[in-house]
Amino acid sequence: MLKIVVCVSGGGTNLQAIIDGIAQGAVLNTKIMRVVCNNHGAGALKRAEAAGIEGVCVSPKDYADRGAFEAALIRTVEEANPDLIVLAGFLVKVPVELIRKYENRIINIHPSLIPAFCGTGFYGLRVHEAVLARGVKITGATVHFVDEGMDTGPIIMQKAVEVHEDDTPQTLQRRVMEEAEWVILPWCINLIAAGQVKLENGKVSVVE
Ligand code: GAR
Repeated sequence: MLKIVVCVSGGGTNLQAIIDGIAQGAVLNTKIMRVVCNNHGAGALKRAEAAGIEGVCVSPKDYADRGAFEAALIRTVEEANPDLIVLAGFLVKVPVELIRKYENRIINIHPSLIPAFCGTGFYGLRVHEAVLARGVKITGATVHFVDEGMDTGPIIMQKAVEVHEDDTPQTLQRRVMEEAEWVILPWCINLIAAGQVKLENGKVSVVE
């Protein structure tokens, strides 16, 4: 059984896709031990509660400084003793200490085809605004392992999505979620739980 902690910041639709994937049997041998959120009142916490999963909020607002917040975040994740940490719309820079402790055991979903439209400042709706401003015709989503850089870790899976001429950032965000994010994030977790994801020399392959 792959024990996962899911870290979230906002609405939690990717969290929901994981919850549904487990409930429907698309994601096997996986249990969400805890949902960790940095934002009081985030929709994601309500989704966790509705699914009977423990949700814990660790907000920087509740701590004197960044160091105290990061220590609490690390403690809260570690208490749940996960095999894998899933960043599902977690808009906090993950403490380096946690990345080192969980090397190749943290994955992230990013709403573009990395290496395009990623790195510092590219998160949430901003990614889709930048995609539309540049006029690219194809975008998508990426699941990758988290390393110490920003969106630089080994890529596990990507899925392309068409940009439409009349898209707004909101309509594009929705299509990328529906067609890509909610598909590949649960899929990758299932593959990891099945031991089918191999990482060698910084590159990922999926084995039978
Ligand atoms: C998702 O689109 C996710 O890819 C993005 O935030 C959104 C969260 O939505 N993450 C990033 O931009 C990370 N750089 P959700 O809370 O409904 O899952």
